Amino acid sequence: MVAIQEPLSALLAILLLLYLMKRWWSHQRYPPGPLSLPIIGGLWRIRFGIGLNERTINKMSKQYGNVYTLWLGDMPIVLLSGFETVKEGLIGHSEELSGKGSSPYVTFIKRGKGITFSNGDLWKQQRRFAVVTMRKLGTGRKSMESQIEVDAQKLVEIFACEKGQPFDPALPIINSVSNVTCNMLFGHRFPLEDENFKELVDSIEFITKFGGSLGHILFELFPWIMKRLPGPHMKVLERTKIMLSLGKKEILKHKEELSSHEPQDFIDYYLLHIEKKKDPTSTFDEDSLDDCISDLFIAGTHVSALFMQWAILLLTNRPDIQDKIIKEIDDVLGSSSICYEDHKQLPYTNAVFHEIMRYRFVVFMGIGRQTTKDVNIGRYFIPKETVVIPDMYDIFYDPQHWETPEEFNPNHFLDKDGNFITRKEFLLFGAGARACLGEHMGRMQHFLFLTSLLKAFHLQLPPGVKELSEETVVGMFLTPKPHKICAVPRESSS
Ligand SMILES: *[C@@H]1O[C@H](CO)[C@@H](O)[C@H](O)[C@H]1NC(C)=O
Repeated sequence: MVAIQEPLSALLAILLLLYLMKRWWSHQRYPPGPLSLPIIGGLWRIRFGIGLNERTINKMSKQYGNVYTLWLGDMPIVLLSGFETVKEGLIGHSEELSGKGSSPYVTFIKRGKGITFSNGDLWKQQRRFAVVTMRKLGTGRKSMESQIEVDAQKLVEIFACEKGQPFDPALPIINSVSNVTCNMLFGHRFPLEDENFKELVDSIEFITKFGGSLGHILFELFPWIMKRLPGPHMKVLERTKIMLSLGKKEILKHKEELSSHEPQDFIDYYLLHIEKKKDPTSTFDEDSLDDCISDLFIAGTHVSALFMQWAILLLTNRPDIQDKIIKEIDDVLGSSSICYEDHKQLPYTNAVFHEIMRYRFVVFMGIGRQTTKDVNIGRYFIPKETVVIPDMYDIFYDPQHWETPEEFNPNHFLDKDGNFITRKEFLLFGAGARACLGEHMGRMQHFLFLTSLLKAFHLQLPPGVKELSEETVVGMFLTPKPHKICAVPRESSS
């Protein structure tokens, strides 16, 4: 027995050694980072995603530098932090970083034909089409701005219905923001109590909270086991189907009605485009349309609604800032109504809105990209097809760039004479080839919604509450904890 066992264990020892050497060798190609152990990689460093928040990630850059690799099992993820490094990556190497990584999880939920998760020609064509179409829709007869004004007034009415009593503003905000997006995509809006709408909102919330959770990480590590087990990832699959089936229903409805009128919304334009582009290389079909709808809906609604929720929460905790905004609006514009162009005359208001974005940057990990070729960033070599994630939190909380990074301070965006200043750090807001499609629409919407609400109400804490928690719940995005506010009507004398 002993005689057989010994060569066997010697063989095993040699195999193990070879395996470890091979691993070590392949890891050497990537920038250094937390020690990568077999199977789990560097996940021990982020405690397997449990209690993961924006600060956990930030601590790593202090330890490992501005370019480092975190191994998700066998998958390398390169993190960029620090303004200069992120700028070099996103702007300097925009083309090389224009890919979008697939992962076992993305493949599992079968997304990848729209804009967010697509690559190469497919992505280029879809994105170009979306940009052009959104421009068309924005400048048409029913301009986007006047549509947004209608939605802003609706939101004010809904807040007014609460008669100053405590209520949770989350659902009305989501509904209102989604009305803007739905109007553009579908040509109609959803009533607050619509079942399809509620289902859609629940689904998106579930899907985005799953991102970055332990369940998600386990799935990326052990896809072949997880696919066979029940768990939240199965629910995500179901929820994704719900989201896509809603899109399918809309597409069908639009197809039936399209011949009877001029194109009016995104789906109309897309369907016409499918007709026109019947060549075999075309990437336009109903499946990609459905994926585009989901992508635009998540980007346009979820992210925008989170910004609005943070804005209202942060301002409710800071009545003095609300008063200053109102005073500025009264002084500059008097009682005339506000349009987006006015933001240029309202430096303080504009600074506060930017500070909200800095202080609680919803997409705290930036948007992950994949390298389309080998690339060098700083002193580091990053091979083709590596996932690269910019750490936006690090940039927005860097004491070298901001006077009081931990504190909410509108002066970050004002010079000493009270003029608004653009901060170069903000150019990174989705810079490069993957920049945010709806940035202009988003800014317009935030400005008009918030000024309309502040003109109509004092946002106040519910009686007996000292302060709303500004802690974050982390998933794919930074979400505030559930909370209630009171919207007390301002004196109608002004
Ligand atoms: C969204 O639009 C629907 C339909 O016009 C309307 O009933 C609802 O009140 C709107 N919601 C908000 C929050 O504006």
